[in-house]
Amino acid sequence: MTQRQDVEKADLNANDIASAGPEKRKVFVKTYGCQMNVYDSERMSDVLAPEGFSATENVEEADLVILNTCHIREKAAEKVYSDLGRIRKVKEARALEGKDMMVGVAGCVAQAEGEEISRRAPIVDLVFGPQSYHRLPKLLNDARSGQKVVETEFDIDSKFKHLSEQAARPVMKRPPAAFLTVQEGCDKFCTFCVVPYTRGAEVSRSVEQIVDEARQMAAGGVREVTLLGQNVNGWHGQASDGQTWGMGRLLRELAQIDGLDRLRYTTSHPRDMDDDLIEAHRDLKELMPYLHLPVQSGSDKILASMNRKHTRDEYFRLIDRIRTMNPDIAMSGDFIVGFPGETDQDFEDTMDLIRKVEYGSAFSFKYSQRPGTPGALMEDQVPEDVKTARLAELQELIASQQTAFNASRQGMICDVLFERKGRNPGQLVGKSPWLQPVPVDAPEELIGTIQPVEIVGIGSNSLFGTLIAGHHDSGGMITGGVKEIAI
Ligand code: SAH
Ligand code: SF4
Ligand code: F3S
Repeated sequence: MTQRQDVEKADLNANDIASAGPEKRKVFVKTYGCQMNVYDSERMSDVLAPEGFSATENVEEADLVILNTCHIREKAAEKVYSDLGRIRKVKEARALEGKDMMVGVAGCVAQAEGEEISRRAPIVDLVFGPQSYHRLPKLLNDARSGQKVVETEFDIDSKFKHLSEQAARPVMKRPPAAFLTVQEGCDKFCTFCVVPYTRGAEVSRSVEQIVDEARQMAAGGVREVTLLGQNVNGWHGQASDGQTWGMGRLLRELAQIDGLDRLRYTTSHPRDMDDDLIEAHRDLKELMPYLHLPVQSGSDKILASMNRKHTRDEYFRLIDRIRTMNPDIAMSGDFIVGFPGETDQDFEDTMDLIRKVEYGSAFSFKYSQRPGTPGALMEDQVPEDVKTARLAELQELIASQQTAFNASRQGMICDVLFERKGRNPGQLVGKSPWLQPVPVDAPEELIGTIQPVEIVGIGSNSLFGTLIAGHHDSGGMITGGVKEIAI
């Protein structure tokens, strides 16, 4: 053992967070909620790496635990407290061994509940909202000196500035598919939703910031970027030409980046789908044929009381325009059942909308009363058993549409981006253009490449495929003649 390693070992044995040198501490991050939290958690790990933290999946060996939380529904928020109960036991067990453990709560519950969290769960040392994670090293220091840290400022510009500085650092190896936040916050104030309160007002990153980060990702091996925002298609960013660009223009720009072969964006609001963006679905082969466009309800009365600001008819017309531009697109959405005042007829209108649209997949939820939102105070709250029955009925319909959509892929040849090893030996898992996972028997060196695959079987969520021999992509363009996908 070298002298340096000896020193490191001694430090580790001491397990003193304050004196442990770089590369010796472990951080366990648990992410709840949406992809924006996934992106934020990854950036937190990036911020913590120079501080000597490496990631662990094992909470027992963590010197620092961060829960990156979600406040969207009551269940999501309450889960944090039950997890904190379990973490308290781990922290106590570590203390018996003379080891320290810091506990931080980040994300939307942190933003919404602030210091209430450490009152309810005294093991929590730091509480910090979604706009403060880049200040994590300083917050950790404050917490280490014994302060209870609560940081819930809305300082989105400083977060975005920091993201760009991070992107300018030397190229880091990245997984083949990555998220890139382009917009945060929401000004729409749907009456059921906490996001405008937890993430603040809508702010868009500039074109330059986004393009720089996307280039950096591509240089690190990313082949597919999903642009993220609570209202991602409402993104409008300043460009260096002095103009304000919309999402369609941004996608056209990103499609030019070498190595970035696939683009996606989520989540979109029906009111922000402009012609340029819809036409991008016709024009850009890089823009994947999948669109998550939540409608929430098929009843005009409920849409109005949700403050969605569009009618079911406008939604139908929008879907028609999108499918005219790209008939191959897999439509996805979100539905809430049991919003206050939802009658059997309103629910039937939602089922009717689903039958007419024919989704490839969708997410659905029972309405959850969220403190501080107008919906929580509305009369005519729907009883829990009615919500349960409606949700089951709706999910059955969506499942049958998903099965039908997947079955329609049988026999097709499509491009698959291989992302990781599969469960079975010799198997890789990739993503189809329509976002289904595709397990395929394939050699490991194909991870990070896009390959033509024949769909030979259908699961409830996945498509099963086999490699088309002799068409290997070497990290650039597809090298073989891929059959047109007919629908
Ligand atoms: N910005 C997106 C939605 C983000 S929240 C949009 O406008 O569509 C993700 C999903 O959570 C929503 O689409 C909605 O279906 C669900 N959701 C939000 N608040 C909810 C609540 N109070 N109860 C149940 N589901 C909710
Ligand atoms: Fe929430 Fe509505 Fe904003 Fe979506 S558009 S984040 S549902 S308030
Ligand atoms: Fe949840 Fe916050 Fe995302 S409330 S859904 S983590 S924006």
